[in-house]
Amino acid sequence: MTEVTSIDDVQARLAGQDYVCGRALATVLFLSLKLGRPLFLEGEAGTGKTEIAKAVAAALGRRLIRLQCYEGLDASSAVYEWNFAEQMIAIRTAEAAGGADRDMLKTELFTEDYLIERPLLQAMRPQAGGAPVLLIDEIDRTDEPFEAFLLEALSDFQVTIPELGTITAPEPPIVILTSNRTREVHDALKRRCLYHWVDYPSFDREIEILHARAPEAAEGLSREVVAFVQRLRTEDLFKKPGVAETIDWAKCLLALDVLDLSPEVIADTIGAVLKYQDDIQRLQGSEAKRLLDEAKASLEPV
Ligand SMILES: Nc1ncnc2c1ncn2[C@@H]1O[C@H](COP(=O)(O)OP(=O)(O)OP(=O)(O)O)[C@@H](O)[C@H]1O
Ligand SMILES: [Mg+2]
Repeated sequence: MTEVTSIDDVQARLAGQDYVCGRALATVLFLSLKLGRPLFLEGEAGTGKTEIAKAVAAALGRRLIRLQCYEGLDASSAVYEWNFAEQMIAIRTAEAAGGADRDMLKTELFTEDYLIERPLLQAMRPQAGGAPVLLIDEIDRTDEPFEAFLLEALSDFQVTIPELGTITAPEPPIVILTSNRTREVHDALKRRCLYHWVDYPSFDREIEILHARAPEAAEGLSREVVAFVQRLRTEDLFKKPGVAETIDWAKCLLALDVLDLSPEVIADTIGAVLKYQDDIQRLQGSEAKRLLDEAKASLEPV
């Protein structure tokens, strides 16, 4: 059975998927699973919000269904569409056979055979292994009308298709919403969810994540990389590096057989960490050396 039993159990199962989950996040996740409430995760880019939905699905043996949000996303792309091309072919075929009865066609053309199921409808369908994990990713990118629509869909987990009737989820999906907070999501939607702010990890936790995701990196290099990235995050940058960047950088350094950081290595590989020219420019000259010295000084001898 995939039922979680405790907060420790949640942490252990996610660890089994190489996901490092702090106590606070494990607690809201446990509650969200126990109470059947959607989990709303907000936080900086690259801090593991999307990844947690994948880890939860894998840990519970559920199917992951992802609705990637974007500006202009509408109900037909999120719920269902009729397959017009297939319907046209069916009409032409019936016409050619001389049997294109208007009423008959109408009932035949609006059946499940011609239905294209989009993520929200898929999530209402029974799945082998139990209710799926529905990831509604980057909800802040959609517009308010879609948010209102979503609020309704999440409150009763059913979808009405005029030609077919109402489809109700036999068991509500496990819903995880994420936002990068490019705009505030409406209170009504938040109220329906349990909320957690996903912050940058502490030094120790980021080391743990690096161990899980780039286990081949040597201890000394990992500590330098994490200390430097943590130091960088305290700078006034246009875009601070997330955990994803830390992992990428460590992998780049490994590929180059780098054993420890130097200002030269940083200058050559900084593109794995900083993605804006203005930010990269700030590290020119003696700045990288200063930050590296400070980062190294913050590390106690192992
Ligand atoms: N706690 C963690 N445990 C393990 N890996 C992590 C953790 N946090 C982040 N990662 C790693 O960082 C990568 C980026 O995470 P993810 O894509 O989930 O970030 P995000 O918060 O969704 O970012 P964005 O807002 O840019 O979409 C993941 O592929 C994963 O490898
Ligand atoms: Mg994401």
